[in-house]
Amino acid sequence: MATKKLHIATRTVQDGYSPKNSEPRVAGIIQSTTYKFDTAEQIADVFDLKDTAHIYSRISNPTVNQLEEKINSLEGGTGALALSSGHAAVTLAILNLCSTGDHFVAAKSLYGGTINLFSTTLKKFGITCTFVDQDETMAELQKAIKPNTKLIFAESLTNPGMEVLDFEKFAAFASKNRLPLVIDNTFPTPVLCQPFKHGANIIIHSTTKFIDGHATSLGGVIVDGGNFNWENGKFPDFTEPDDSYHGARYAIDFKANPFVVKARTQLLRDLGPCMSPFNAFLTSQGCQTLALRMERHSENTLKLAQWLEKQKNVEWVKYPELESSPYHKLALKYLPNGSSGVMAFGYKGGIEETKQFINRLELAKLVVHVGDIRTSVVHPASMTHRQLNEEQLMDIKITPNLIRVSVGIEYIDDIIADFEQAL
Ligand SMILES: Cc1ncc(COP(=O)(O)O)c(C=O)c1O
Repeated sequence: MATKKLHIATRTVQDGYSPKNSEPRVAGIIQSTTYKFDTAEQIADVFDLKDTAHIYSRISNPTVNQLEEKINSLEGGTGALALSSGHAAVTLAILNLCSTGDHFVAAKSLYGGTINLFSTTLKKFGITCTFVDQDETMAELQKAIKPNTKLIFAESLTNPGMEVLDFEKFAAFASKNRLPLVIDNTFPTPVLCQPFKHGANIIIHSTTKFIDGHATSLGGVIVDGGNFNWENGKFPDFTEPDDSYHGARYAIDFKANPFVVKARTQLLRDLGPCMSPFNAFLTSQGCQTLALRMERHSENTLKLAQWLEKQKNVEWVKYPELESSPYHKLALKYLPNGSSGVMAFGYKGGIEETKQFINRLELAKLVVHVGDIRTSVVHPASMTHRQLNEEQLMDIKITPNLIRVSVGIEYIDDIIADFEQAL
């Protein structure tokens, strides 16, 4: 079978199938479930992966495709797949590599929902995860690797600890073990950090956060770096024929972006967590202002963090760009244009006093979200990470007084004034 390119070609509903209309020409939202073809042979070619036309919107859609192309080019990948949420993106990335009986390694500082997925839900599918401290030495990290390990997973900038990943170490760790490095790049976005430049092989985004930016649309994306050797003997699902696609061999037939082709054609087809065209349209709008917003989010967050560091009711402040941060050097190396819009600080007091402080905030809203243009706060111990027990919380350095702030793009003096009155 000749090498095929499965950047799903863009055709409108009206165009249907026609080689003449294979150039992208979508201007708005193609809110369509399905697409008209002229002959049975044409549609059969798509089912056989010989043609890449849109056939049914669970698998691809022109508006969603446009968003995929945008994020793919921002990350410098070889192909992208948009999904219904960030969680769907994380789940499909793991399922694309692991079957029952497989294992993977993940840094333990992660979004609480991801920890739960890895430690509880995937276990029910027979897929196990060993969590490692990302700041450990290479020799310690190596102890987590087993013969059935299929990938290494980490966040580029952790939620909510704001720890910057030592990419050099993790890329060496992954490549030494001939495993793909899968990076959740939600917090920096490709504007502030491009993990493929630092050795990542697959990138995940919850586009729900900064990429959308306006708290309107759930979404997720997987981006393929096209830079991993799937023919190294560890990934038979990429090299053996897939009977459900007439013997397609992803690593051989789709050399440019086998990871997303497989995720789309097997997992999205069978499990179905597709992004709606309307969400794709709104998320695309977010992409247009992303660079400008990330600059302002980062600038405001640094100013608020520096101000909070000087307040007597504040025990500590975590933001990698602060000189006091243990991640300052890594931030300069991997986030030279800003450390994004999230920071954490410890209120001087126990869990009750911390909750009362949050209740006194006015401009900063109590919202379980990050990355919106408006400032918001959460209390992870009682909200996003409440499913973890006390020991698990301390293990990932979430103290009862930790407040996570998603700093918006409002005028900084207004944000500081709100924190001042609440303190
Ligand atoms: C770093 C990170 N990854 C993934 C997710 C999951 O994304 P979603 O809420 O879009 O499913 C989140 C959600 O907060 C997150 O913060």
